[in-house]
Amino acid sequence: MNFRKAVLVPVLAASLFATAQGALATTFKMALGDAAGGTQWELGQKFKTLFEQKTGGKHKVDLFPNGQLGDEQNTVNNAALGTLDFSVLAINNVTPFSPTVGVLTLPYVIQSAEDARELTLGEIGKELTANTVRDAGVRIVGWAYSGFRVLTNSKRPVTSVGDLKGMVIRVPKNEIMIATYQAWGINPTPMAWTETFTALQQRVVDGQDNPYITVSAMKFNEVQKYVTNIRYIFSLEPLIVSEQVFQDQKPEVQKAILEAGREATEYSFQYLQQTEDRIRKELAAKGMQISDPANGEKEWMEKATAQVWPKFYASIGGKDKLDKVLKTLGR
Ligand code: MLT
Repeated sequence: MNFRKAVLVPVLAASLFATAQGALATTFKMALGDAAGGTQWELGQKFKTLFEQKTGGKHKVDLFPNGQLGDEQNTVNNAALGTLDFSVLAINNVTPFSPTVGVLTLPYVIQSAEDARELTLGEIGKELTANTVRDAGVRIVGWAYSGFRVLTNSKRPVTSVGDLKGMVIRVPKNEIMIATYQAWGINPTPMAWTETFTALQQRVVDGQDNPYITVSAMKFNEVQKYVTNIRYIFSLEPLIVSEQVFQDQKPEVQKAILEAGREATEYSFQYLQQTEDRIRKELAAKGMQISDPANGEKEWMEKATAQVWPKFYASIGGKDKLDKVLKTLGR
């Protein structure tokens, strides 16, 4: 057997086996990148309850938090192959597989939770969902709204862009986020989510950015002291289903997946409104020192939008796409 056959036959067999399993499965596996207790967990739990109710208990969902089923970007690959059923992960970790969703992570495009809702639930969300099916073999069936990604670090208070100088900041493996920190004058360190806590703890990196609720769920306050309330990305965390697994289901099960996803999304929006402020206060009470960016974030915003947006017009499908998004948001 030549090398190509030797590699392809087992891969093909594994993927056929996975498809057959998907068709028969009554218990679905859902990967979560974050630890239990954050917005991903809340969305996943709500979806599980609703979906199990809607299928009269015939179908079940088991949640595997904290990267147990692999790093967030790997879960997209596994879902595309049909070896994983569901995953909840940050949108920035979907972008490498479906670049048009990058419009949702361009810095300072989304400026409020309402903007985030408008984009995900409206025409733009529908178009991006169709694109991820086409590009990545996964279907977005729900959204967790996680709040703005704030900057945390273990070294010193940061308020101006210049304060970042000399700091080693971890970012996801996402070109837009890398380019944003470069616009702010430093070269960030791209790193998988599963490695981030240890890297912060061992001071391999000084800081990172993620929403308050995620910082709390991941216990980053134990290894990070300073927070800066930047608002460059509103963290959206889609619930994706393997398109292969979805297509293997009977119409009534597909309907239950879509309905449970919609209802869990609505719940996630309410959860954010009711929880974020409390979590921020709890983190402050536990010793985190919170600062606002200088001059209403003007310098951060100007540098990022001027330098980063034009670099990504092509990958998001043209400048027209961004113009359409901004128009939808009334800007
Ligand atoms: C990341 O920073 O890689 C993600 O935003 C983590 C997450 O899903 O919470």
